[in-house]
Amino acid sequence: MVEWTDFERATIQDIFSKIDVDVVGPAALSRCLVVYPWTQRYFGKFGNLYNAAAITSNPNVIAHGKVVLEGLTRAVKNLDNIKATYAELSVLHSEKLNVDPDNFKLLADCLSIVVAAQLGKDFTGDVQAAFQKFLAVVVSALGKQYH
Ligand code: HEM
Repeated sequence: MVEWTDFERATIQDIFSKIDVDVVGPAALSRCLVVYPWTQRYFGKFGNLYNAAAITSNPNVIAHGKVVLEGLTRAVKNLDNIKATYAELSVLHSEKLNVDPDNFKLLADCLSIVVAAQLGKDFTGDVQAAFQKFLAVVVSALGKQYH
């Protein structure tokens, strides 16, 4: 089981209380689709992903970015139980959606960049360390079905 320090717990909660989830989710997903274009293959039914402008303004991308962030918020509320919290999501991504689990890390990197931009100077090294740990646990839990 993952051990969290008091600082890490407080920092992760604090990050999620400060960020605008409706902005961060869509921004991170859009970036992932722009920076790592092979991730677009899973979103064929989302319509126009022709270039960065089309991706960023695509209503399906925006809506799904919010869904992903809601998924992350569930992990924040269940820090001691992220694996169980994500058991179904892991099955969905592996067995139904056939998402290559390497892609979870790519989206996590995009989340870090967008959160860093939102928090500005508050995103210190210590804060980043806590957030990266959180994302690593999320990525591992989502990948559980593949292990
Ligand atoms: C931080 C990592 C991720 C989280 C927290 C996450 C979360 C979610 C959630 C909550 C759903 C909705 C599940 C449902 O409807 O029951 C979902 C669906 C989906 N996810 Fe992920 N996901 C992540 C990463 C990825 C990545 C990296 C990809 C592909 C590159 C991906 C592809 C999809 C697709 C294609 C769907 C179905 C979309 C639809 O048909 O509306 N996910 N994800």
